[in-house]
Amino acid sequence: MIHLAVNIDHVATVRNARGGSHPDPIEAAKQSIHAGAVGIVCHLREDRRHIRDADVYALRRELNTKLDLEMAAHEEIIRIAEDVKPELVTIVPEKREELTTEGGLNIAADPSRYAELVQRMHALGIEVSFFIEPDSRQIETAQKIGADIIELHTGTYADAKGADAQIALESLILGGSIAVDHGLKVTAGHGLDYHNITPIKAIPGLVEVSIGHALISRALFTGIPRAVKDMIDMLV
Ligand code: PXP
Repeated sequence: MIHLAVNIDHVATVRNARGGSHPDPIEAAKQSIHAGAVGIVCHLREDRRHIRDADVYALRRELNTKLDLEMAAHEEIIRIAEDVKPELVTIVPEKREELTTEGGLNIAADPSRYAELVQRMHALGIEVSFFIEPDSRQIETAQKIGADIIELHTGTYADAKGADAQIALESLILGGSIAVDHGLKVTAGHGLDYHNITPIKAIPGLVEVSIGHALISRALFTGIPRAVKDMIDMLV
C-alpha cells in the first residue's frame, strides 16, 4: 500500500483570490486526514503566493499528523522550518517566475550546502527529503549528504505521451531501485493524477506519493452537486 500525502497549496490559492479566509486550507487538511491521507504537504514559497506563514503555524498547531513543509533552501524559510518543526522538510528548487516547481533540485552541484541543511534539520529531529530527478548522481549525493528520503520528480512522466511516458516511467523505476540500494526511502510527486497514477506503483521502494493539483481539481467537481443543491434548498 502506497500512502498518500495531500498538498493543500491550491486551497490557499483560491482563498487568496478573495483576500479572506475561505476556503480554509486547514479545514482541507483536516478533511484529507479524515479521508485517509497520512500527511499534509504545503509549500511555503518565498513570494507567499499561496501558503502563508500563519497557515504553516496553524497546520502545526491543529494537525496531529505528519506535516511536510516543502521549501527552497533559503535562509528565511529554513528559519521558519526550524521554528515550526514539521516532521519532514522537502527541499525543492524555486524560481519566482515559475507557475509551479519545474524539475528536480540539483543537489550534486552543491553537496556541502545541502549537507549543512540536513544537519540543521536533523539537530531538531526533522527528517529531510530532496525532490530530485531519477538520476544516479543525484540519488548517490542524497545518500552521501545524509538525506532520509528522496522524492522522485514525476513531472516529466506526467507530461509525456505514449512511448515517451514509458521511457520516463522506466527511468523512475531505475531511480527507485538505485535509491533502495542506497538505503533511502522513496516518495514521488508532481503532476500525478487519476489517469497516470497506476503505473507509478511499479517504482521500487515507493512508500508515498504527494499530490495536490489533481486532487483539489477533482474535489471541485465531486463537491459541486452538493454545493449547488444546498444553496437551492435555502432558496425554496
Ligand atoms: N511534490 C513536489 C515537490 C511539488 O513541488 C509539488 C507541487 O507543489 C507536488 C509534489 C504536487 O504536485 P501536483 O500539485 O502537481 O500534484
